[in-house]
Amino acid sequence: MDSHAFFRGRRLRRSQTLRDLVRETEIRPHDLIQPYFAVETDDKNFEKPIASMPGQSQLSVDKLAERVAKAVDLGLRAALLFGIPAEKDEVGSGGYAENGIVQQAVRRLKKDFPALCIVTDVCLCEYTSHGHCGLLSSQGEVKNDPTLDLLAKTAVSHARAGADIVAPSDMMDGRVLAIRQALDADGFKDLPVMSYAVKYASSFYGPFREAAESAPASGDRKAYQMDPPNSREALREAAADLEEGADILMVKPAMPYQDIIRLLRDNFDTPIAAYQVSGEFAMIKAAAANGWIDEDRAIMESLLGIKRAGADIIITYFAEDVLKMLQ
Ligand code: PBG
Repeated sequence: MDSHAFFRGRRLRRSQTLRDLVRETEIRPHDLIQPYFAVETDDKNFEKPIASMPGQSQLSVDKLAERVAKAVDLGLRAALLFGIPAEKDEVGSGGYAENGIVQQAVRRLKKDFPALCIVTDVCLCEYTSHGHCGLLSSQGEVKNDPTLDLLAKTAVSHARAGADIVAPSDMMDGRVLAIRQALDADGFKDLPVMSYAVKYASSFYGPFREAAESAPASGDRKAYQMDPPNSREALREAAADLEEGADILMVKPAMPYQDIIRLLRDNFDTPIAAYQVSGEFAMIKAAAANGWIDEDRAIMESLLGIKRAGADIIITYFAEDVLKMLQ
């Protein structure tokens, strides 16, 4: 048979060296952001494992600093912080308190690890007694415009504590503009906003809500987060956030929405982040714990898919594990 008659793709797959030479996509330590959960507590040694997220824990600020120290030694470059306040109220005041839990955690981590990029999640759901991402009306509806002020206050308080990037995840309309204006007015013109621009109302956030104790007490988030069947709407959301001043656009969740990551990649020149959320993490962990899949290979394959789809940045609970694998 004439060797030009058909494509012999196997020629370049015959050894690891050959495969590495023609590798198109790479997961690098500086692509990854590891999320952490900081708890407001007097117990300096507080560590509570999250049952549905094996290996992840709620941590006191001191314990968090210990854990981050190990991750930084492995090469961690960026972290995303969530806070669990000692007390919650109707208006989520713990979220924008000068000495709130995220603000405390940011100050500590910036002191210990000045080079670590600290991203803060800007939202009210961990701080409100009703668990919604904004203020509730007496009819139980999340009020958009009155919430914007509080989100802007939250972002400014994170910036004052030393955050390097603020990441609004609430899905209120107009919040990027409100946050951008408030940051500029407070002297933070150079602080980037990473917007959860395309965030779907997803079943894959289940384990996170256990981790952050932020499940809505009644109802769901469908009136503000995006409807999973829609992709044209994702372009609209992304364009709006860019116009309002977002520097990085995020798609969330990641694996079931790789078409959306690609859609944004092909339509915008801005950096794109993808969030491999708690449920995606839990699925891989659970299958691996049962011996049904090879954990390390499944982790890498999932991240390569997200990267191939067009993400520049991946937020993943596997970041620490991947850094170990890449050592
Ligand atoms: C807060 C927020 C959520 C997540 C990130 N920020 C939960 C939600 O919207 O219900 C989910 C992250 C994850 O599942 O890992 N609004």
